[in-house]
Amino acid sequence: MGRCPACGEWNTMVEEPKAPKEASSATALSRSRAIISAQDALPQMLDDIDFSAESRFSIGIAELDRVLGGGMVEGSMILIGGEPGIGKSTLSLQIPLCCKNLRTLYVSGEESPKQIKLRSERLGGNGDNCMVLSETLLENIVGQAKKTAPQLLIVDSIQTIYSEALDSSAGSVSQVRECASALLRFAKESNTPVILIGHITKDGTIAGPKILEHIVDVVLQFEGDTKGSYRILRSIKNRFGSTDELAVFEMTGIGLREVSNPSEILIPMHQDDLSGIAIGAMIDGTRPFLIEIQALVSTAAYGTPQRSATGFDSRRLNMLLAVLEKRAGFKLASKDVFLNIAGGLKVSDPACDLAIVASVLSSNFDLYISPKVCFAAEVGLSGEIRPVSQIERRIAEAEKLGFEQIFISSFNKESSFARRKDSRIKVTAVSDIAALCRVLFQ
Ligand code: TYD
Ligand code: MG
Repeated sequence: MGRCPACGEWNTMVEEPKAPKEASSATALSRSRAIISAQDALPQMLDDIDFSAESRFSIGIAELDRVLGGGMVEGSMILIGGEPGIGKSTLSLQIPLCCKNLRTLYVSGEESPKQIKLRSERLGGNGDNCMVLSETLLENIVGQAKKTAPQLLIVDSIQTIYSEALDSSAGSVSQVRECASALLRFAKESNTPVILIGHITKDGTIAGPKILEHIVDVVLQFEGDTKGSYRILRSIKNRFGSTDELAVFEMTGIGLREVSNPSEILIPMHQDDLSGIAIGAMIDGTRPFLIEIQALVSTAAYGTPQRSATGFDSRRLNMLLAVLEKRAGFKLASKDVFLNIAGGLKVSDPACDLAIVASVLSSNFDLYISPKVCFAAEVGLSGEIRPVSQIERRIAEAEKLGFEQIFISSFNKESSFARRKDSRIKVTAVSDIAALCRVLFQ
């Protein structure tokens, strides 16, 4: 059915697999019970539960181990999502090549064994313990996995495999869900960790990773510009560790290279002495990240000054410029102002205000801001610098990425200064734009 008669929406109907005959009343609930424990479960005292059972092992890629929370947990299911071409297949093939004691079954629904061999030649490493299977039928994959009993199963990608039990085509919501639950059952029953690869489009709407997030134990997302060489692997969900972790990789001619000191990415992007550039610490959805904001202020050639903003609301830019004019005495009315958010991103987080103001001022004075400095605060109409939410996470992200100083609102001071003492980043609280100028461009 194309249109749902209940809500009137198009293409929202999803095919559900029929429940097994012996348990015709079986619901999703009883099915998920079968996943977690095969026998009838009895309540246990929390204190009596032996948690040493959660054993971890290292997979030989230090950054990946760290994002996973200190290695891979046996019997866990990990989803690696990302846009096509970002390097998911490369990373997952590098795991068995780096960790030679790990018997791995690498299932590919996209590439032939020859192609995989070719890629592994390029990546180098040791393929002694890596079995390869080109297959898209779920039942065969699970059968082979049970037969070969690998220590790690990698399935690339969940959208290409299908189950005979359903009529719908591979990649549809019901197939993806059915295949993932079958693989989850395999993972829990055999205590084998399973890595699923999932494609995701820019807006994350395509059937796939999004609907799997609640099934799997760990969700890692690969981000970055496929044309650039840097990739960020971020933990979005982790039942065995923190979700604040991120790892940075560089795509090279011989595969992904770990970047253990991520600040090396941001620094060589421009020379120290370029004016008009400021870094803002913003939060998009639930994830913090740092973006570069570029401004160009020049003398207006014609009567009416030009204002242009790419990736940012131009009305808000006009407001910020008006604030600068009124409260800080800058004669911007006779200047053209161009604003650009680097990397083609769009920002709407008010925490970018301070970085925008700083980049405009920097271009106006032609004084550069150190690339190791970033900003996170909102600017109010009277020129006051206002607090923003989740300031600790912004500071932590900036610290992780190697920044040395962050400017925040003095109203955020309390929460941010309560942080641990050994932090490597200097937090500077400012109360208004004049104070910011004094500290930045003195
Ligand atoms: P891939 O892992 O196939 O992406 P995904 O599985 O996420 O779709 O990687 C694709 C890109 O990586 C491809 O454009 C080529 C590039 N690449 C390298 O630059 N170096 C390498 O060693 C490899 C294997 C791939
Ligand atoms: Mg691939």
